[in-house]
Amino acid sequence: MFLVKAEKVATVQKPKFGKGVIIGENVEFGKDVVIWNYVVIGDNTKIGDKTKIGSFCDIGKNVDIGKNCMIQAHVTISNGCKLGNNVFIGPNSSLLNDKFPHSKCLTPTIIKDDVVIGGCVTILPNVTINENSVIAAGSVVTRNVPPNTIVKGVPAKPMMTREEYEMRRKRFIKAKKPKNLVP
Ligand SMILES: CC(C)(COP(=O)(O)OP(=O)(O)OC[C@H]1O[C@@H](n2cnc3c(N)ncnc32)[C@H](O)[C@@H]1OP(=O)(O)O)[C@@H](O)C(=O)NCCC(=O)NCCS
Repeated sequence: MFLVKAEKVATVQKPKFGKGVIIGENVEFGKDVVIWNYVVIGDNTKIGDKTKIGSFCDIGKNVDIGKNCMIQAHVTISNGCKLGNNVFIGPNSSLLNDKFPHSKCLTPTIIKDDVVIGGCVTILPNVTINENSVIAAGSVVTRNVPPNTIVKGVPAKPMMTREEYEMRRKRFIKAKKPKNLVP
């Protein structure tokens, strides 16, 4: 990998970069992308409009990340993984690509649109998380997740539907008084 410092990247609209960002060759950024501190991005990776990448993330080669995604700190996205639009990934989560290291037979993870992945989640190689699903914090996902499904645990198993999750989410937000919210 030929690495350049972020300040040398020439794109139509340069992303907002923090300190210590290292970018490979042929990396493409959409509009209004934000990359926080000490992030590494591999060759030929694409990052869509309005996506934000938190500090200390390791984004591999040939990764596609869609528009309006939020990738929190210390996330690893292995070579070749594909993410749709509006994907959220909580801190310390990993998307893997090599089931039997070092097999050199890479089978990257695929994350479809509007998926929410909690913190400290591991998605095993060759797994697809389908649209609108949610992975609970700390889960290890070993099988494909159908659309609109919330899964939890090790190995991850269905817990509820996205509809039920949204009902619980609204109830949770309504119950919180502004003074109790952490800014
Ligand atoms: C999935 C989630 C939304 C469920 O919240 P909830 O609907 O309020 O669920 P509850 O807390 O009522 O728990 C229901 C049951 O699931 C279990 N459970 C909840 N979250 C779990 C998790 N992450 N892993 C394993 N079990 C879990 C609870 O222990 C409880 O089990 P029980 O019925 O045997 O007692 C939430 O637990 C979660 O993981 N959120 C993601 C948080 C996160 O990673 N944020 C990242 C940004 S900071």
